[in-house]
Amino acid sequence: MLLAFVALIASFVVLLPNCNAQTNFTNPVVYSDFADNDVFKGPDGAYYFSASSFQFSPGGPILKSFDLVNWEFIGHSVPVLDFGASYDMSGTPAWVQGIWASTMRYRASNKTWYWIGCIGFWNTYIYTAPDVTGPWKQAAVLPGGTCYYDCGLLIDDDDTMYVAYGNTNVNIAQLASDGLGQVKTQQIFSGPTNLQGVEGNRLYKINGTYYILDDSPQGVTLIWRATNIWGPWENQTLQTNVGSPLPGGGLIDQGSLVEGPSGQWYFMSCSWDYPSGRIPLIAPIEWSDEGWPSLVEINGAWGSSYQYPATPQVLTNWTGTDEFSGTALSPQWEWNFNPDTTKYTFSSGNVTLYTATVTNDLYSARNVLTHRTYGPNPVGTAELDFSNMADGDRAGLAAFRDQSAWIEVIRSGTNFAVRMIYNATQGPNNSWTTVSNGTVAANTDLPSGTSKIWLRTQMNVML
Ligand SMILES: *[C@@H]1O[C@H](CO)[C@@H](O)[C@H](O)[C@H]1NC(C)=O
Ligand SMILES: *[C@@H]1O[C@H](CO)[C@@H](O)[C@H](O)[C@H]1NC(C)=O
Ligand SMILES: *[C@@H]1O[C@H](CO)[C@@H](O)[C@H](O)[C@H]1NC(C)=O
Ligand SMILES: *[C@@H]1O[C@H](CO)[C@@H](O)[C@H](O)[C@H]1NC(C)=O
Ligand SMILES: *[C@@H]1O[C@H](CO)[C@@H](O)[C@H](O)[C@H]1NC(C)=O
Ligand SMILES: *[C@@H]1O[C@H](CO)[C@@H](O)[C@H](O)[C@H]1NC(C)=O
Ligand SMILES: *[C@@H]1O[C@H](CO)[C@@H](O)[C@H](O)[C@H]1NC(C)=O
Ligand SMILES: *[C@@H]1O[C@H](CO)[C@@H](O)[C@H](O)[C@H]1NC(C)=O
Ligand SMILES: *[C@@H]1O[C@H](CO)[C@@H](O)[C@H](O)[C@H]1NC(C)=O
Repeated sequence: MLLAFVALIASFVVLLPNCNAQTNFTNPVVYSDFADNDVFKGPDGAYYFSASSFQFSPGGPILKSFDLVNWEFIGHSVPVLDFGASYDMSGTPAWVQGIWASTMRYRASNKTWYWIGCIGFWNTYIYTAPDVTGPWKQAAVLPGGTCYYDCGLLIDDDDTMYVAYGNTNVNIAQLASDGLGQVKTQQIFSGPTNLQGVEGNRLYKINGTYYILDDSPQGVTLIWRATNIWGPWENQTLQTNVGSPLPGGGLIDQGSLVEGPSGQWYFMSCSWDYPSGRIPLIAPIEWSDEGWPSLVEINGAWGSSYQYPATPQVLTNWTGTDEFSGTALSPQWEWNFNPDTTKYTFSSGNVTLYTATVTNDLYSARNVLTHRTYGPNPVGTAELDFSNMADGDRAGLAAFRDQSAWIEVIRSGTNFAVRMIYNATQGPNNSWTTVSNGTVAANTDLPSGTSKIWLRTQMNVML
C-alpha cells in the first residue's frame, strides 16, 4: 500500500526587519514534545538543541536556532537505536527507554560533534559526527554498568572533557583525550536531603567559574558552583515551583543556561503539559553581583512573553505539508522503534509501507511512522493510496500514545471499508502491555473502484 502526504514546506529563512527593539516573543517557543533540552552555542554562532526521544528511531533529535525562539528540526544524533533487539520490538519492547536526558557539544580542537547518553538501563554510548547534520556514528560504548545518568558535557578551556551526571549523588567524570573513554570519576556532591535528590545535570564554565544546573528533582531548579571542578561546590536556588505560562501547564523541568546573541542569559526549560508532552520555554535570567543566576519572573510566574533575545529569524514553519521530496524522510519523521527497513521504501513523492506485522494490536505493529504534534489543536492529514493492500490489511492515521484512536482502511476480500477505532490502550502503571486493541466507533464501506482516500486526525490537547 502507498502512503503519501501532499505538501509544501517553506525551506527558506525569512529575515524580519529589525523594526522594533521592544518586539516580544511568546512562550512556548516550540509547542511540541522536546524534553530534557541541552542547548548551546555552536561554532557558527547558531544555537543547537539536543533532546530526548525514547524508543523513537532515529533518536536524539537536534533543533537549530539563531535567536533561541524560532527553531528548526535539522537532524538526529543516533541514526539507529543500536542497543539490542528490544529496540526492534523483539522480546520485551523497550518502551520509553532509549534516548533520555543526554548531552551534545561541538569540540573545536578536532572539529567533532559529540553526543553522550545513558541508554536503557544502564550503559553509556558516545556518538560523534564531523558535522551536526552527520554522518553520526557510534564511536564508543563505556564499560558495562557505567551510566552517565542525566548527563551534561563540558569541554573546558584546556580542551579537557568533563561530564556531570547522577541521580542524587552527582559525579564528575573526566574523559580520555579523544573523548571516547573515562579517565576518572568522582562524586562531587549529594543533593539536598530535604528535597528528593537531584537530576538533569548540566555543566558549564562561565567567566572562569564552574556551574552545575540541576533539578531537585522536578519543579525546583538548583545552581551549584565551584572554582575547582572537583570542589568544594556551593548551591543556590534558581527558581522554586514557578508557575507555567501554558494554560494547565505543569512543572518546569530540566533544561539549559545559555548566553543569547545580545549577551543576555536565558534559562531554557520545559513545562510538563500532557498529553502534548514536555514543551520548551525560555525566560531571561539575571546574575547577582555575587555571580548567582535567578529567573526573571513576571507576576511570580514564568512569563508568557518576554523581549526577543535578538532580531527574530523565522525558520521553516513547524506546520505545513510534506510532499516527501528529496531522497529520504525529513528529520520530523521518526519510527516507533527501529523500522524493518525491508518493509518500506521512500521515493520522491511517496512513502510505501508494506505489511510489516500481522496483528490486531497497534502497539505490536512495526513500522509505525510518527510525527510529533505541534500546537494546542494539532491536525494531521494524509493521503493514502490503498490500491495494493492485500486481503486483511489495515492502514491508517492514528493519534498515537498510550491511549490511541485512529482512522483506517481495511480490506476484506474485495470489500474496502473505512473505520474509526478508539481507546486502544497500554498500561497501566507503565507496564506498556496492551490492555485494549481498541473499539470500532464507526464503519462504512468505500465505493468500489476507490483507491485513494484523505484521512485526518484532530486533537484537543488542552485537557
Ligand atoms: C577527535 O574525535 C575523534 C572521534 O570522532 C577521535 O577518534 C579522535 O581521536 C579525536 N582527536 C583528537 C585529537 O582527540
Ligand atoms: C546548599 O547551600 C546551603 C547554603 O546556602 C547549605 O546549607 C546546604 O548544605 C547546601 N546543600 C548541599 C546539599 O550542599
Ligand atoms: C563575565 O565577565 C564579563 C567581563 O567582566 C562581564 O561583562 C559579564 O557580565 C560576565 N558574565 C557573567 C555571566 O557573569
Ligand atoms: C514584553 O516582555 C516584557 C519582559 O521582557 C514584559 O514586561 C512585557 O509585559 C511584555 N509585553 C507584552 C505586550 O507582553
Ligand atoms: C505556519 O503555517 C500555518 C498553517 O499551516 C499558518 O497558520 C501559520 O501562520 C504559519 N506560521 C508562520 C510563522 O508562517
Ligand atoms: C506516488 O504514488 C502514486 C500512486 O499512488 C503514483 O501515481 C505517483 O506517480 C507516485 N509519485 C512518485 C513521485 O513516484
Ligand atoms: C490484541 O490482538 C492480538 C491479536 O492480534 C491478541 O493476541 C491480543 O490478545 C489482543 N489484546 C487484547 C488486549 O485484546
Ligand atoms: C477504554 O479502555 C480502558 C482500558 O480497557 C477502559 O478502562 C475504559 O473504560 C475504556 N473507555 C471507553 C470509553 O470505552
Ligand atoms: C497500579 O499502581 C497502583 C499504585 O501503586 C496500584 O494501586 C494499582 O493496583 C496498580 N494497578 C495494576 C493493574 O497493577
